[in-house]
Amino acid sequence: MAKYIINGGRPLSGEVTISGAKNAAVAIIPAALLVDGVCRIENVPAISDVNLYLKIFEQMGANIRRIDRSTIEMDCRGVRSHRPPFDIVSRFRASSYLIGAMLGRFGEAEVALPGGCDFGQRPIDQHIKGFTAMGAKVEFSGAAVHAKADGKLKGNYCRLDLVSVGATMNLMIAAVLAEGTTVIEPAAKEPHIVDLANFLNAMGADIWGAGTDTIKIRGVERLHGGTYSIIPDQIEAGTYLTAVTAAGGEALIKNVIPKHLECITGKLIEMGAEITEYDDSVHIRRTGTLRKANIKTMPYPGYPTDMQPQAGVCLALAEGTSIITEGVFDNRYKYVNELIKMGAQIQVDGKVAIFEGVPSLKGCPIKACDLRAGAAMVIAALAAEGQSVVDDVFHIERGYETFVEKLTDLGADIKRVEDMPPVRAKIS
Ligand code: UD1
Repeated sequence: MAKYIINGGRPLSGEVTISGAKNAAVAIIPAALLVDGVCRIENVPAISDVNLYLKIFEQMGANIRRIDRSTIEMDCRGVRSHRPPFDIVSRFRASSYLIGAMLGRFGEAEVALPGGCDFGQRPIDQHIKGFTAMGAKVEFSGAAVHAKADGKLKGNYCRLDLVSVGATMNLMIAAVLAEGTTVIEPAAKEPHIVDLANFLNAMGADIWGAGTDTIKIRGVERLHGGTYSIIPDQIEAGTYLTAVTAAGGEALIKNVIPKHLECITGKLIEMGAEITEYDDSVHIRRTGTLRKANIKTMPYPGYPTDMQPQAGVCLALAEGTSIITEGVFDNRYKYVNELIKMGAQIQVDGKVAIFEGVPSLKGCPIKACDLRAGAAMVIAALAAEGQSVVDDVFHIERGYETFVEKLTDLGADIKRVEDMPPVRAKIS
């Protein structure tokens, strides 16, 4: 198991280049299963969730070529089975997109239930509601989902009970090769929803309205090969912006779409950061004291739940009382106990957390409870006085490409170490 050793208390300074969006990549890669040709996908982030997907497809007979660090070519015409390997699939959340992809391609899917970050109940009932509306019969047996259509899926109106990124993506993937037209309402509007639609349209799909509440998909006979470049990662960029806000200093965050960051930068400005937007980069500077702010997480264009723990670190250090209300997940405050170990004063009551700002945090052993909570722990360690050791960093490496190297380029004192084997006591 790897850990990060961080000596905090020094401001950050320099430049960082943002990688391709994780949440777009983990939908676009399974969607490539629908393509009758070769897909060249650029700006693919080098993270472990992507590697798991590529392993699944390779094991299933796809031909995958790595052209360079961030470009892959996928030819999935050789995949014959609707049963992806259970052991790998159950290890991450986004594997649920294999249900939509397999149903779209084969009319049948037998897929292990997804794993991923644990922030309370994460049902997939809305995905199932949509597949059922499109004519699939869906059954659960043990830890797997079995979905089967009578021939091809049939386009239909999919009215969802709530706004879900995963259900919107999964139903869009399933509907692309269905007979007739599918409508998804209310659809999620995150940048990665639009990116998936753009990818599928570049391969010959007919999708309208991505980025609005209503997405319309007219089924087509086949998708052809092509080239597509994934958008930059909104949450990775937000994480570095928040790290600079918490630790102080200044940085140029390159390869971003500033519009996607406005929901995040707006709050950082309230906390005392100075932001300058350029065409494809954002400059951030924070030198004064951190100011309190109230945050409520919501679907895009609201403040992203995936930035909630990172923002929590700034608020733990901000003057006065701040309130976070988690509006998306039931239980996303596991990181709070780790911050309290560092000297933060935070009280959680259900979906609300109240932060009484303290002047400083103290470095200590802490752990990454999940992907974004892990990023938040690194930010806390960078801002804290003294040394911290962050454990369970495999969570972080699911979603952040070369995190340690990028932070080192910003002047952070951070090292990745593998656990030493336990020392056995001598029995005399
Ligand atoms: C995706 C992101 C995750 C992000 C989240 C919200 C990926 C791989 N993951 O997760 O990083 O935090 O969006 O932006 O893109 N829900 C149901 N039934 C369903 C589906 C969802 O009740 O069938 C609920 C969830 O429990 C949650 C809310 O809807 O409370 C939103 O979840 P959803 O948008 O689906 O999140 P994910 O797709 O799991």
